[in-house]
Amino acid sequence: MSKSCGCKSRFNAVFMKNLEWYLHNIYGNYKKSLFSKLGKEVLEIGAGTGTNLPYYKPDTQLTVIEPSKDMLEFFLKKAEKYPLNIRVIEGFAEELPFEDSSFDSVVSTLVLCSVKSPQKVLREIRRVLKPDGVFVFIEHVKAPENTITEKVQDVLHKGWKWLFEGCDIKRDTGKMIQSFFSDVHYRTIRFNSPFIPVNYHIIGHGIKKSH
Ligand SMILES: C[S@@+](CC[C@H](N)C(=O)[O-])C[C@H]1O[C@@H](n2cnc3c(N)ncnc32)[C@H](O)[C@@H]1O
Repeated sequence: MSKSCGCKSRFNAVFMKNLEWYLHNIYGNYKKSLFSKLGKEVLEIGAGTGTNLPYYKPDTQLTVIEPSKDMLEFFLKKAEKYPLNIRVIEGFAEELPFEDSSFDSVVSTLVLCSVKSPQKVLREIRRVLKPDGVFVFIEHVKAPENTITEKVQDVLHKGWKWLFEGCDIKRDTGKMIQSFFSDVHYRTIRFNSPFIPVNYHIIGHGIKKSH
């Protein structure tokens, strides 16, 4: 798998770095509640610039997998400030380099929109989770049919995907998560303006059932 040209990768890393304060504003309280469900051994996929670092409990054994060197540069700098035990791996979540049932919990925030194959990634997340392990997520999703946002997504879909390195604003990620996990619960939040292409977000968790 390859990523786009270096300048776009740099742009996206700087963009995400500058968006951190905003993400804390809109998701901070939700993340506090979601991350309280995490076990000790946690995998975060697509950790980006490290937006989620402040939300982990201090005794967390955190592994992150992230394909972008530019994101990782910011991540590593930020990670120095947190007293967590962190293992960083450069790679893609479609092929997780871990044994089955390695983690208590897996975290994905704003990542399943960008991966090449969300189905492969969800299958991998389920594989590396321990039985009864929890998958927590925040993802922006496809707008409901016949809404203004749906029309906005139709118009901007291609350009957005090009600019934001594969980010697909029309993915029905909630449905996909439900097909891989049990006891999936999420809420959908919506910003005030229907003209925002990433207007609808799902925030929740699912469980890997032990069979
Ligand atoms: C919109 S950013 C979100 C970053 C971070 N999770 C956050 O909430 O701020 C999407 C991230 O997913 C990463 N990504 C893209 N494709 C990926 C893949 N196949 N596997 C893992 N991460 C991926 C990108 O490099 C980027 O860091």
